[in-house]
Amino acid sequence: MNKVNFEKTADLINKQDEWRDRCINLIASENVQSKKVRSFAGSDFTHRYAEGHPGERYYKGTNFIDQIESDLKLNLKNIFKCEHTEVRPISGTNSNEAIFSKFVNKEDIVMANSTPGGGHISHHRLGALGKFTKNIIDFPLTADGYHLDVEKTKDLINRIKPKIIVLGKSLFLFPEPIAELRDVCEQNKTKIIYDGAHVLGLIAGKRFQDPLEDGALMVSASTHKTYFGSQRGLILSNMDAESWRKVDRGAFPGSSSNHHLGTLAQMALSTLEFMEFGEDYSGQIIKNAKHLAVSLGKEGFKVEAKEFGYTESHQVAVNVNEYGGGSLISTLLEQNDIILNMNMLPHEPLKNHNNPEGLRIGVAEMTRYGMNEPEMEKIAELMKEVVIEKKSVKEEVNKLRAGYQEVKYSFDNTEA
Ligand SMILES: Cc1ncc(COP(=O)(O)O)c(C=O)c1O
Repeated sequence: MNKVNFEKTADLINKQDEWRDRCINLIASENVQSKKVRSFAGSDFTHRYAEGHPGERYYKGTNFIDQIESDLKLNLKNIFKCEHTEVRPISGTNSNEAIFSKFVNKEDIVMANSTPGGGHISHHRLGALGKFTKNIIDFPLTADGYHLDVEKTKDLINRIKPKIIVLGKSLFLFPEPIAELRDVCEQNKTKIIYDGAHVLGLIAGKRFQDPLEDGALMVSASTHKTYFGSQRGLILSNMDAESWRKVDRGAFPGSSSNHHLGTLAQMALSTLEFMEFGEDYSGQIIKNAKHLAVSLGKEGFKVEAKEFGYTESHQVAVNVNEYGGGSLISTLLEQNDIILNMNMLPHEPLKNHNNPEGLRIGVAEMTRYGMNEPEMEKIAELMKEVVIEKKSVKEEVNKLRAGYQEVKYSFDNTEA
């Protein structure tokens, strides 16, 4: 067996850095940190523990992280206008698990978005939610597949009285009807959980619905899709203090022990960037997503949800079945340094998951690199050349990307 040496692994890391600097990344769940925030990746916090809360730790040596964590929580409370924030989950899935473990008992009925309907695996029988109940009912959707059928959902809630409903999803083009479901949920003592993993930055930038204001009891999220990172999880709520203690215990010791202080400190820094630049950034994300959708349509693609203006988020969904399906097309695009993922579309059966008809495209990262509407048109043209005309465009992709190497909406070029 060949021994893997240090140089080989180090070389692969360097190759990834160099390659991704040449690529156009359209993965909807990803984003980049500013160079300044990245430069703190190797701080001493990377090696430390601080179980518990600031000022009440089970460990010594936590004075500085106590201050950073307290400041971060205060900033998040201001951004999201909420009383409680839980910053210790180290991913969105951990956040969901912290909630489900305390609010879902064996065989409780829970409603969530199906996988083809855009739901995340952590809302699924095989994921975090499935550890606590198998009684998971899909939300009924309208014929287009991108909206919850409010009347049918209300009727179902009245009949089956779910313990919780989990709104929010991974293929997430339009806001969820929280306000419309608020009364029926109250009447049936159904708790509304909103998974804002994808849209956290859009919510923070005031460009999407405000789920707590609309009536969600808790918001769970990951912090690195439309928000500026680092890769972590978050829970927000305005619930009463006693119920919040359950979430607290769900997060620690429930779903994590060490809460990865290195990335926590980086998230505190990128939150400061978000406070300064987040509204402009998320406004541009939405303009870019809409413009990319229109441009892809003009280039001949079947872009989903046209009748609703394509999208109100950072995502665009495209049906590429006629060109060979999502698996083949995402591979072809990757060979041309355009990185995105295949995705099931709402009308598809689950058995299509290995070769779905769709692509999910996200513009958060390229927007952070400073791309605007003209670049979205160029990306649509390059995608047409690869997918429809079967041309090789790698050099052109690399040339376009070479002009967008600095992370905008950041303190990179300031004295901050
Ligand atoms: C809706 C939704 N919830 C939760 C998650 C999980 O987040 P993480 O990957 O941070 O665990 C994702 C990830 O893509 C997601 O799309």
